[in-house]
Amino acid sequence: MALRHGGGALGPAVAFLAVAALLGAVTAGKFDDVVQPSWANDHVVYDGDLLKLRLDANSGGGFVSRNKFLYGKASADLKLVPEDSAGVVTAFYLSSAGDKHNEFDFEFLGNVTGEPYLVQTNLYIDGVGNREQRIDLWFDPTADFHTYAVLWNPSQVVFMVDDTPIRVYENRQNATVRGHHRHANGTTTATGSSPFPGPQPMAVYSSIWNADDWATQGGRVKTDWSHAPFEATFREVRVDGCVWAANATDSDAGEVSRCSGSSWGKEGRYWWKEKEMSELTVHQSHQLVWARAHHLVYDYCVDTDRFPVQPPECAGH
Ligand SMILES: *[C@@H]1O[C@H](CO)[C@@H](O)[C@H](O)[C@H]1NC(C)=O
Ligand SMILES: *[C@@H]1O[C@H](CO)[C@@H](O)[C@H](O)[C@H]1NC(C)=O
Ligand SMILES: *[C@@H]1O[C@H](CO)[C@@H](O)[C@H](O)[C@H]1NC(C)=O
Ligand SMILES: *[C@@H]1O[C@H](CO)[C@@H](O)[C@H](O)[C@H]1NC(C)=O
Repeated sequence: MALRHGGGALGPAVAFLAVAALLGAVTAGKFDDVVQPSWANDHVVYDGDLLKLRLDANSGGGFVSRNKFLYGKASADLKLVPEDSAGVVTAFYLSSAGDKHNEFDFEFLGNVTGEPYLVQTNLYIDGVGNREQRIDLWFDPTADFHTYAVLWNPSQVVFMVDDTPIRVYENRQNATVRGHHRHANGTTTATGSSPFPGPQPMAVYSSIWNADDWATQGGRVKTDWSHAPFEATFREVRVDGCVWAANATDSDAGEVSRCSGSSWGKEGRYWWKEKEMSELTVHQSHQLVWARAHHLVYDYCVDTDRFPVQPPECAGH
């Protein structure tokens, strides 16, 4: 699903923007170190210790991290739009730049009052997505703050909800396992090895936008603008990763090796690359099995209508 939002109307009064910017400078401290508005600044609202992304009929809004990272963990303490949020999508995601970009997405698909949100995750690798999975949640994500996180290292990408892994994408580039396409005549053909996102620095983003063409009950339920503005509320955004030098290009070999080199993990500084982070713990594996058994509602890996040929990374699923 496309994450890119189409521009949207720019803010109204310039004077209001100036005042908001001043207030922002006073109250935005803990967010200011980590993120900055990236789309429709007047829809990125600082409210005491909280940061809200607002959607109304004019525009949605978004923010981006100040730094780029290669490997690490990004998380958000987030409370989703309460009550009627049909048609509204809030996203928290990591993305690199360019045509061959990588991207790890959480997309929260709103619903009418009382009906459950769905959480869609997706990965783009070398510019190609189409790896959607959807879960429902074991709590009401509009009632309180919950932590949504992505851990990313050379071995795996892990999506977590309150420290429970809900999805793991492993680096199987060294493994011999291959995807197979079973033909009508009973023979199989290998479909290639499993891709894994290469070492491109990523920024962390969040945005809220109107997606009533597809998001809620397959697009059948539209956004009810009489309930606007719709607001997603952040209590904190954390990014703990290898910060990419601001003066380096995205393909800088020195930065790749500085952030990828295994010797760094031993210092405890780049904890996300240490050996114990290369796979789930036994406890986490059990949590993952539980989450998927009880809450997975869609998995592209088993959608044979969309993928008559099973994607190679799905082998063994
Ligand atoms: C794959 O193999 C290479 C060469 O042995 C090794 O350096 C690398 O760490 C391995 N990658 C993973 C994800 O295991
Ligand atoms: C089975 O079907 C595939 C795809 O049409 C074809 O490439 C393969 O040669 C066939 N094998 C046999 C034994 O008929
Ligand atoms: C919204 O609620 C309906 C009815 O419970 C459910 O089928 C659907 O999966 C929910 N979520 C979305 C995003 O449509
Ligand atoms: C970036 O700046 C640092 C410190 O000034 C310097 O050591 C480094 O070589 C620069 N890197 C690039 C890619 O220009």
